[in-house]
Amino acid sequence: MQTILITGGAGFIGSAVVRQFINETQCKVVNVDKLTYAGNLQSLASVSDNPRYVFEQVDICDAAEVARVLREHQPDAVMHLAAESHVDRSISGPADFIQTNIVGTYTLLEATRSYWSGLDAPRRAAFRFHHISTDEVYGSLGESGFFTEETAYEPNSPYSASKASSDHLVRAWHHTYGMPVVTTNCSNNYGPYHFPEKLIPLVILNAVNGKPLPIYGKGDNIRDWLYVDDHARALRLVLEKGKLGETYNIGGWNEKTNLEVVQSICAILDELHPQGAPHNKLITYVQDRPGHDRRYAIDASKIAKDLDWKPQETFETGLRKTVEWYLANTGWVHGVTSGDYQHWVEKNYANRSGA
Ligand code: NAD
Ligand code: TYD
Repeated sequence: MQTILITGGAGFIGSAVVRQFINETQCKVVNVDKLTYAGNLQSLASVSDNPRYVFEQVDICDAAEVARVLREHQPDAVMHLAAESHVDRSISGPADFIQTNIVGTYTLLEATRSYWSGLDAPRRAAFRFHHISTDEVYGSLGESGFFTEETAYEPNSPYSASKASSDHLVRAWHHTYGMPVVTTNCSNNYGPYHFPEKLIPLVILNAVNGKPLPIYGKGDNIRDWLYVDDHARALRLVLEKGKLGETYNIGGWNEKTNLEVVQSICAILDELHPQGAPHNKLITYVQDRPGHDRRYAIDASKIAKDLDWKPQETFETGLRKTVEWYLANTGWVHGVTSGDYQHWVEKNYANRSGA
């Protein structure tokens, strides 16, 4: 049985990856997560009693604890998703982004290198360090063109600069120390269990509650949206079949302006939650984000061609599923919006951490 150590497994994408590994494979999963405001163990309630799932509440910046976890659980691979991930927060307070995304990645790389060097030859050869990153490292596109794996890095926000730094560290650890790494850079994800500070869950929940739907600037910035389970499937494929030292861009070929996204959510809600219709009357234009990247769009042909990956959801099917999930999962939503999930963690996990 393979053991996969996943950092950030209590977050939005990490929890989708953990659920897939537990539900669709025989792998053991060790979830290493500090449980910041964005880490929510309620997102893992469906798998947390599985004997192949272990939770370790650990900060990736804590070298001794990361080394202990590696020693105790002897993973065959590390998938690194732990990060500070919200651009707006990185603008108002970049320090945590520098700490977790750069220092944390460095700490994890060094602890993993030491662990990996001590493995026997077959296990050392089979080992993988998979670094999960974002398309935001490439900067902003104009009206045309796509981000490819060859696009030069031009990060514009403290978030994307910290992720770009982490990508460079991972690359250097491969070239200098021979660490067996693969890196993926993905476009904007959406789907269930997404923390409602990000556009799509924020708009769904505000609309249901009759609150304003804030659109930065004119709403004409473009993002390329991918359903989170499609991203998780791509990550598992890259871990299994990706070529060492290579980068794979992951995206859904789903470019939308922010206004189109918000209008689509409102139209679905008009049908599923007619009480507040028409929901688009709540759209409110607010001051733009400083340095707001204009357009992101991923050319995902390398992963499609080399690894035979393609997304299963279209934006229409994925968005409908997402809205339905938020309407049905009021318990999770209440926990997150009230902050109760942090108390729930204390109550339910106080004596399970590290078990
Ligand atoms: P998220 O904010 O939902 O989750 C991050 C997780 O990391 C949380 O569970 C948090 O508790 C944990 N964490 C934060 N600091 C930590 C630390 N110091 N030690 C241990 N754990 C820590 O983020 P997400 O949206 O799930 O993103 C996961 C990864 O994917 C990130 O690396 C992000 O840069 C990348 N990514 C995200 C998107 C997106 O659209 N959300 C797109 C492309 C790439
Ligand atoms: P976000 O979900 O924060 O992801 P990212 O900044 O990583 O792309 O934002 C997606 C887009 O939506 C981005 O162009 C900013 C915009 N946006 C709004 O217009 N209003 C909002 O309230 C938020 C959170 C984002």
